[in-house]
Amino acid sequence: MDILKISNISKSYGSNKVIDNMSFSVPENSIFGFIGKNGAGKTTTMKMILGLLKIDSGDIFVDGEKVVFGENKTNKHIGYLPDVPEFYGFMTSLEYLKLCGKITGMNDKDIINKSNELIELVGLKNINKKIKSFSRGMKQRLGIAQALLNSPKLLVCDEPTSALDPIGRKDVLDILYSVKEHTTVLFSTHVLSDVERISDHIVFLNKGKIALNGTLEELKSIKKGEKIEIEFLNSNEAKLFSQIYVDVNKISNTKLIISNKNENEMLEIMKLLYQNNISIQSLEKLEPTLEDLFLEVISK
Ligand SMILES: Nc1ncnc2c1ncn2[C@@H]1O[C@H](COP(=O)(O)OP(=O)(O)OP(=O)(O)O)[C@@H](O)[C@H]1O
Ligand SMILES: [Mg+2]
Repeated sequence: MDILKISNISKSYGSNKVIDNMSFSVPENSIFGFIGKNGAGKTTTMKMILGLLKIDSGDIFVDGEKVVFGENKTNKHIGYLPDVPEFYGFMTSLEYLKLCGKITGMNDKDIINKSNELIELVGLKNINKKIKSFSRGMKQRLGIAQALLNSPKLLVCDEPTSALDPIGRKDVLDILYSVKEHTTVLFSTHVLSDVERISDHIVFLNKGKIALNGTLEELKSIKKGEKIEIEFLNSNEAKLFSQIYVDVNKISNTKLIISNKNENEMLEIMKLLYQNNISIQSLEKLEPTLEDLFLEVISK
């Protein structure tokens, strides 16, 4: 079952078409990475999912229910962490979560139980200071707790890790990973290592369309083996090889990369190495990184 289905949506701001007939679906219990460079339309898409922005054409379904602009019926299934979350600085985490629970109509017992459970989950237990003195990482973790208050089926996080240091980033990613069992997570980012760390499904948004869509393995397998990396025993051997083989890219004094143009390329290289008595450390077909894929997508 898809918890979120985006079907042929388009959105323009004036003459600027930001989303162009875009479709993708998010399966339940996945961690879905929504990747796109600055201005790609990630926040715009998330706001349309929440019914906060009008879609020009197309439909969005959350748990099978159609999203209607300006209505919040489908939002009962969604927890949302905006790109710049706002808090009441004079409150503590617990006070803030209690307020959020009251506003959303939870009963008092649930508010207390859920708030305490979530404060523990996001690592803010025993921190009784006011939110205004929180670090960015702490605020982000409180934002996730707030978004999880109504036990949503879908957690939408807009760039939850941007502006965080490596420790803050790891904390947030660990929390998102830990809720996967009960909640599907859709998070936007341009930090590719974050996606590699926790996502099991990825979409690349480029020029208003989905340029790539699949699991990390699927996306990498498209390009697997297009490059061959040779590590030589020393720099002299590498130099010798680059003199006899055209079209090599130098990575370091002892490492070269060659594009794997045809099936026999590997054999040809081995033959040349043998015939010229060149010693190597290793020879392998390279897997592309997510960054390689991203750069290729946005260059189109
Ligand atoms: N309210 C608005 N009015 C006019 N144009 C807008 C508005 N909001 C966004 N845009 C434009 O729409 C495009 C997509 O913006 P959006 O904020 O959705 O991108 P994003 O992928 O979230 O970027 P970032 O990574 O910087 O957060 C940009 O060109 C932006 O300038
Ligand atoms: Mg954004």
